[in-house]
Amino acid sequence: MKKIPYFIIVFFICMIAVSSCYNDKEAYLYPFASICDSSNATYSQTIAPIMTANCNICHSTVLASGSVITDTWAGLNVVALNGKLWAGVDWSAGFSPMPKGSSKLSACDLAKIKKWINNGATNN
Ligand code: HEC
Repeated sequence: MKKIPYFIIVFFICMIAVSSCYNDKEAYLYPFASICDSSNATYSQTIAPIMTANCNICHSTVLASGSVITDTWAGLNVVALNGKLWAGVDWSAGFSPMPKGSSKLSACDLAKIKKWINNGATNN
């Protein structure tokens, strides 16, 4: 059997590689990336995990940086209702931007926090 020249094989591998990139549009690759469902934001399912991931390292009941506690509903409810929670995560002028030393939370996380606050920051 005649051997297939090496460059032909390489050529076809390249063609496959290039053509497989044809549909590399964000919407195809990450179908859920642009969808943010903040409608059902609850403390237990939505807000508490965001706090655990971004805030509790400094705002645990034990540390309570800036006298703010984010690892219990009672602690978080205080700053949710007095406006400081939103001012902090929204990086409002005159407030210390949170999470301190990190980048701003995602737009989706912010939308969820806002929704929960607007709904009364309840222990749901
Ligand atoms: C690396 C530690 C750190 C992290 C992480 C952090 N904070 Fe803070 N936070 C602080 C410190 C320290 C203060 C006290 C004010 C200051 O020094 O900036 C503070 C203050 C605050 C205040 C009061 C702001 C004011 O002006 O009175 C709020 C509200 C707050 N943090 C919420 C959060 C939230 C919500 C997160 C998570 C998204 C978060 N923090 C993440 C360290 C942190």
